[in-house]
Amino acid sequence: HRSDLLKGKRVLITAGPTQEALDPVRYLTNHSSGKMGYSLAQAALDMGAEVTLISGPVQLTAPKGVRFYPVTTAKEMFDAVCAHCDTADFIIKAAAVGDYRPLYVSEQKIKKGGERLHVEFVKNPDILAYLGEHKRPHQIICGFAMETQNLLENAQAKLENKHCDMIVANDLHTEGAGFQSDTNIATILDRSSRTPCPKMSKYALGVTILKHMLALRTQGEQ
Ligand code: C5P
Repeated sequence: HRSDLLKGKRVLITAGPTQEALDPVRYLTNHSSGKMGYSLAQAALDMGAEVTLISGPVQLTAPKGVRFYPVTTAKEMFDAVCAHCDTADFIIKAAAVGDYRPLYVSEQKIKKGGERLHVEFVKNPDILAYLGEHKRPHQIICGFAMETQNLLENAQAKLENKHCDMIVANDLHTEGAGFQSDTNIATILDRSSRTPCPKMSKYALGVTILKHMLALRTQGEQ
């Protein structure tokens, strides 16, 4: 899908899961494969954009031609996004960021002991909410919402609470959608519309998302 639609545009994409250490040998993460974010990065490149990809640990190779910044924790992702967001025209937060991290990271391996183990967690910074609060006039910001219930209601709430322009909502339990799959089924929500996207490859959904962002940008300029 080669075009010049995004020529001269800077696109910042986050992808993959984050990992939060519990001790030197263990960590907490999620099932994100990074496929949606990496497909978006490839699609943005093919549409002529300058692409920065900030990614948690995944089994994928970064598309040739992106500026690539690998990170591990949510805090590292936050710092990398802050370092690169000012000049971005489009920001897409496809990463599955851990909401909490262990309050203490044990310096030594936690030894097996009693029947129960209590770990206290502390909230991670919400990168998307931060970006929404500090949005530059030229920016279009897109978040993702992966839900197991009340998909559209929760996605709508995210759109408003996190001050973003667009949310791509998908249901974890729908066949052909979500974390490990090569396809996705989603609804794109913005302030004035809901666009259902039938089952398609993550690359094709990437192109659709980028075109939607471009349309919002064009509307904003008029
Ligand atoms: O609220 P929830 O985590 O479900 O929102 C998902 C969206 O928020 C995704 O776009 C995700 O990348 C982003 N997010 C974030 N920082 C967090 C948690 C989520 O940027 N700490």
